[in-house]
Amino acid sequence: MTEQVISTLRDGVLRIQFNRPEKKNALTAAMYETIAGIMEGAQSDDKVRVLLFTGTDECFTAGNDIADFLGAPQLTADSPVSHFLAILASAEKPMVAAVRGDAVGVGTTMLLHFDLVYAGTSARFWLPFVNLALVPEAGSTLLLPLLAGYQKAAELMLLAEPFGPEEASEMGLVNKVVKDADVESFAMEKAMALAAKPPVALRRTRALLKAARGILPDIMEAEGEAFAEGLKSEEAQEAMLAFMERREADFSKF
Ligand code: COA
Repeated sequence: MTEQVISTLRDGVLRIQFNRPEKKNALTAAMYETIAGIMEGAQSDDKVRVLLFTGTDECFTAGNDIADFLGAPQLTADSPVSHFLAILASAEKPMVAAVRGDAVGVGTTMLLHFDLVYAGTSARFWLPFVNLALVPEAGSTLLLPLLAGYQKAAELMLLAEPFGPEEASEMGLVNKVVKDADVESFAMEKAMALAAKPPVALRRTRALLKAARGILPDIMEAEGEAFAEGLKSEEAQEAMLAFMERREADFSKF
């Protein structure tokens, strides 16, 4: 079977690729566990200086697998996605992303924890949590307003319309927009530049840059509770079934 998460280490850069293109790299529980395990291993491996995340040619990730949500609507602190989010938020080593195509849901919110984000011209970001009768996660309800300002964050999270790489760049989510064909090599070049720097100073600088986010764990806990409640709701079941059945959701009865 094709590996759905591929990791390779070269010159201090651990490249982690979402590789499930037939499902737009939607992340299953098994994929979250794999990624979390890789990230945990990276934390204690001195050979790993930087993590570089990428998707496939046409997609970063369509976010959480909706069939998984429908099949197992229980979310706890022990769930694979919670495990992944906790490691993402506490990761000490620099993280770089190369985004092409859709980055939906956690595909966008995870980027708020990255240090450098490079987007191809095809990149499209989207926070459709409310459309799915859920709430945004990964600390994004704190981090996006900090980055983009309250009104911009509210627009993106409440209206929940997709936005392109230029808009993402203007709000500071993306460092640079480059041609799709060049985005991964560009991101790798920057990751290698980071990998050559003194690692302890880099990690300390990163921790200081993030120090003002002190209430992040509390916010993530509150998001997790609201997300778990949402997931069990009839609204969410309708929204997700509608996606799987390729029809418009009908919220008129709620
Ligand atoms: N979970 C499960 N399956 C997904 C998925 C997801 N998040 N995103 C895409 N897929 C599947 C589709 O069901 C389809 O499978 P099929 O070929 O067996 O029918 C396949 O991936 C291709 O997706 P498709 O919708 O045909 O691609 P598209 O290019 O028209 O649209 C997206 C791409 C990302 C806009 C669209 O797939 C989408 O909206 N996905 C859901 C995103 C989402 O809500 N994520 C959760 C956020 S919390």
